[in-house]
Amino acid sequence: MLSYKKLGFVNTRALFKKALSGGYAVPAYNFNNLEGLQAIVLACLESQSPVILQASKSACNYVDQSILPHLVYGAVLMMKRVAKEKKLKPIPVVLHLDHGPDFKMVKQCIDSGFSSVMIDGSSLKYKDNVALTKKVVDYAHKYGVTVEGELGELAGVEDDVVAELSDYTNPKTVADFVLRTGVDSLAVSIGTSHGVHKFKPGVNPHIRLDILKEIEKQIPNFPIVLHGASSVPHRYVGEANKYGANLIKAIGVPEDQLRVAAGQAVCKINIDSDSRLITTATLRKIFAENKTVVDPREYLGEVRDVLKEFYINKNKIVMGSNDRV
Ligand code: G3H
Ligand code: 13P
Ligand code: ZN
Repeated sequence: MLSYKKLGFVNTRALFKKALSGGYAVPAYNFNNLEGLQAIVLACLESQSPVILQASKSACNYVDQSILPHLVYGAVLMMKRVAKEKKLKPIPVVLHLDHGPDFKMVKQCIDSGFSSVMIDGSSLKYKDNVALTKKVVDYAHKYGVTVEGELGELAGVEDDVVAELSDYTNPKTVADFVLRTGVDSLAVSIGTSHGVHKFKPGVNPHIRLDILKEIEKQIPNFPIVLHGASSVPHRYVGEANKYGANLIKAIGVPEDQLRVAAGQAVCKINIDSDSRLITTATLRKIFAENKTVVDPREYLGEVRDVLKEFYINKNKIVMGSNDRV
């Protein structure tokens, strides 16, 4: 058993409390490699924003689950060194399991140094979701690890789960779910979805802020989580397409709507696809324009810089999490 405290991580409790009262959301960025991890941590340090670094089951498998907390520990050491050099305050870092599929994987993550976990029982029957989530909460809380549950299924693809239609969270069920399970935060379905194709072309892309309001009435001052919140910037869709991609119908969540949600009870906003898109567009452009580059540090270094700028802007414009440390 390796406690997350030994690795310098924090759980989400105090961060969400501050975010709720401050009217902002803590950014939850997925990462899969070293450059992505560095970009997130350095951007959040520069923004003076708390950060949730999150890895899905497939990211854990890609990196190697047992060493992943150690890699992130390395990133925390780097962040502290840079903070000292630049005379900035070190930022709080959460290491979070995204879409934990079952108790076994969640336990593995808690035991190896994660400070926060999601148990995703959203595709189960309500009573099975409650039972599984409660089992995870009972185990996690013994070690000070915070737990995110999910009610209502998002459209799109998340790990092994594929949902065809958006199944919005029923506001009438949230209070009972929170009470029975003891979760620390709740992911809800209000019209966002995973991936880069979130809305049909021609329709007005929007999330159901009215459902969010109803949910908030049922569980006042309780931290809400938004998955599938990438905005899929036109600029990078265009750039990827210009250099050979075919992402014609890629449409994301409008940033102004996310900002409204962050000002309410949404305390955690998940972004993954935007970083994938930016990475892909940047690499396509570099390789198209430079036929002789062979050093991965040249092109991955450029990706890191572009991602860093993106995260700094996201913290400021969408999360409102800058200068909150
Ligand atoms: O919510 C899903 C995340 O975007 C993770 O996706 O399983 O491909 O890493 P992934
Ligand atoms: P996006 O696919 O919109 O980036 O959502 C990511 C996410 O919800 C990770 O859990
Ligand atoms: Zn998600």
